Amino acid sequence: MVCLGNICRSPLAEGIVRQIAADHQLDWEIASAGTGDWHVGQPADRRSIAVAKSYGYDISRQRARHFDSSMLDEYDQILVMDKNNLRDVLTLAKNDEQRRKVSLFLTENMDVTDPYYDDQLFDPVFLTIEERAKNLVKELMAKFS
Ligand code: 4NP
Repeated sequence: MVCLGNICRSPLAEGIVRQIAADHQLDWEIASAGTGDWHVGQPADRRSIAVAKSYGYDISRQRARHFDSSMLDEYDQILVMDKNNLRDVLTLAKNDEQRRKVSLFLTENMDVTDPYYDDQLFDPVFLTIEERAKNLVKELMAKFS
């Protein structure tokens, strides 16, 4: 799960997808990272931690990482929150096998809105990610099983 800062959107995606995967008894390694490195080592934004907690998810122990090209080998699927992340991740891809792993988290070419500058966006962003995560896990189960 990849976004810009790895403190708002992708930590939510990481925590939600991990919990849904665990609910399906799936032994998947779920991680998140940011295309920018400003927040490396920091916890998620307090507003993401709070909205996740309010819906029953604990993302407080996750720490921000910087996306690097080794992750294109390490992980089977790279899900990015918006089209800027898509461009930045694809720039790091070295071959078609890596490029094929990368896709937008949402369907229909939609971006997950960056909520960083607007407190009001955290709740709708959470709900958008949670809604998509349920079908996403089903799609990935079909793809990788
Ligand atoms: P995120 O949000 O990409 O969803 O983690 C942002 C977090 C931090 C910044 C931008 C977006 N920033 O500019 O520091």
